[in-house]
Formats: sequence, C-alpha cells, structure tokens
Amino acid sequence: MRWLVTGRDGQLGSCLAAGLAADPAEDLLRATSHADFDVADARAVARVFDDVDGGVPDVLVNAAAFTAVDRCESESELAFRVNALGPGLLAERCRDVGVRFVHVSTDYVFDGRAREPYCEQIPMRPRCVYGQSKAEGERRVLEVLPDSLIVRTSWVFGPGKNFVESILRQLERRRSGTIEGPLAVVDDQRGCPTYAADLADAIRDLATLSLRRDSADGEDVRGIFHLCNSGSVTWWEFARAILDLAGYADLAIERLGTQDLDLPAERPRYSVLDCGRAARLGVRLRPWREALASYLTSRPRGATAEGV
Ligand SMILES: NC(=O)c1ccc[n+]([C@@H]2O[C@H](COP(=O)([O-])OP(=O)(O)OC[C@H]3O[C@@H](n4cnc5c(N)ncnc54)[C@H](OP(=O)(O)O)[C@@H]3O)[C@@H](O)[C@H]2O)c1
Repeated sequence: MRWLVTGRDGQLGSCLAAGLAADPAEDLLRATSHADFDVADARAVARVFDDVDGGVPDVLVNAAAFTAVDRCESESELAFRVNALGPGLLAERCRDVGVRFVHVSTDYVFDGRAREPYCEQIPMRPRCVYGQSKAEGERRVLEVLPDSLIVRTSWVFGPGKNFVESILRQLERRRSGTIEGPLAVVDDQRGCPTYAADLADAIRDLATLSLRRDSADGEDVRGIFHLCNSGSVTWWEFARAILDLAGYADLAIERLGTQDLDLPAERPRYSVLDCGRAARLGVRLRPWREALASYLTSRPRGATAEGV
C-alpha cells in the first residue's frame, strides 16, 4: 500500500515513517515534517498530493498535532487551527481524491470521571482546551469523511519528549547532584501508557484491514477506534516501573495529588480506554510493561529529552 504520513518528527510520526520505510511490502511516498507542511495551511493542504513521487497514496495518516497540553490553554487559537481546522482540511482533500484518512486523537476528549474503561461510543466531554480542540477535530473529520478512521490513544512514549524521558532525566539530575530531594509523581490519575512503535504497527494493521474489508465483505472498519498498550497505571506506578526496569528499584518516589502541581490544563483523573473494538478485529497491543521494557532497551544509550 502507498502511504503518506504527517508529523514525521513527532513520537508517533517518526515510528510510522521508520516502520513503513523499512518494510519492503509497503510504499511510503512521503512523510512530512512541520517545517515542510503545515496541516492547517489550506493552500498547502490543497497541494498535499501534488508532486508526490509515486502518485496519490492509498492512506494518509495524520500524526501531526499541537500536543503541548498546558500551552493549549493560553494558545487556544493555535490549538484549534492545528488540532481541528487542519484535520478537517485533510479529510476534505482525502474525500475529494479518494484516499483513506486516518486521524489520531486522544483520551483527553473524555472528562475522566468514569470508573470503568471508556469505549468509543461514550460522549466526549473534554475538560481542557487541548481536549476540546481534539474533540472538534474528530467531529470535523467524521462530518466531512465518515469513512475515516479516528484512532484515540493515550500516554504516548516514543522517540522524543515524553514521561519516560522526563523521569530518567530527573533521575540523572539527582544522581549527579544537580537536584536534591526525592522524585515526586502524581498518583491520582490513571491511564494506559502506549509505546509509539506499537501504536504505529497497530495503526498500519487497522488501516490495511479497513481497505481490505471495503473490497471484500464490506464489514464496517471505519469510525472511532481506541488503541493503547494493555493494562493501566497511575503516573506514580508508571514512574515506579520505569525506575525498576532501569535498575533503580531502591530509589524512593513520593506520591503527589493532581492539585499539588497546579497546572494550567485540567487532566482526566481516569482515562483508561477500552480497546475491545480493535481487538475483535485482531488488532491488539501488548501489555504496557513489555512495551516499556522494549522502549528502554531500544532508546539510544545515555539519551535524554527536554520537556514534558
Ligand atoms: N503524546 C501523548 O501522550 C498523546 C496522548 C494521546 C494522544 N496523542 C495524539 O497522538 C498523536 C501523535 O502524538 P505525538 O506524541 O507523536 O506528538 P508529538 O511528538 O508532539 O508530535 C507532533 C508533531 O506534529 C508537528 N506539528 C505541530 N503543529 C503542526 C502543524 N501545524 N503542521 C504540521 N505538523 C505540526 C510537531 O512539530 P513541531 O514540534 O515542530 O511543532 C510534531 O513533530 C497526536 O494526534 C496526539 O494528539 C498523543
């Protein structure tokens, strides 16, 4: 299949691009970065399939997004441009040219007040600007092109800025004496950590299935799907596992409450996603702990990342 991927320099986009480029059975026509293609620029979107060597792709995966959750609170116009306007424009272009559109969304579209995993049909009630902009993106995409796939995921870690790197960086700073005092992590938010490389593979499988099913028995592989590594944790439990797997089981971590951090954006307290719909089609991600171990062994030795 022929693919076009946006968000090439992000966690998910880089895994998608690397996996597709390395697979001789797939044809990655183009993977765009923010610098060479702004998903919210209508004129650029109108030309997105022009001059692509190999012609029009079968699938466009939009992994580009404005993901800085707290910055979205003060930069809401930008958040809606990138996370809602852009996906809508891409969906229009895909509809006009006949390309399957896969758009990636988030657990932050939910309010976090549930007590059991969220399935795809539960109404969106985002509590922060990032979640609102992503929810609006989903609505626009499905309105324009109901055949699209919307893949909601959560707590992504992969090449780039993420929670795992943040914990490892804080560990290093304590070991080098730059910072004193124990590590402290929030223990009252629960979700599903997701390895970007596993998510990329699952997105490929789902998109492939959606095109095959269209041409075969016509079974409904379109609309919203939840895709995360299996199992759930609090951020504290996740930090504990990171340190244990990195060989620092003896290092203590203090437990914080969400209110202790006083961050601009409200986070869902509970955002475990029910991935049963994809699993029934045979698309399943492994348990998060196995995925974390894999990430820790594959990341460049001594790598650290700024941010999160
Ligand atoms: N990270 C998470 O924990 C998480 C959780 C749930 C869902 N998701 C969703 O998963 C998807 C992938 O996330 P990720 O973690 O891979 O994000 P990421 O690492 O932040 O990557 C996003 C990429 O999009 C690019 N981008 C931003 N604005 C753009 C624009 N206007 N045009 C084109 N590219 C633009 C960014 O480039 P610059 O950095 O140069 O701006 C960045 O390379 C997103 O849809 C996100 O909402 C992520």
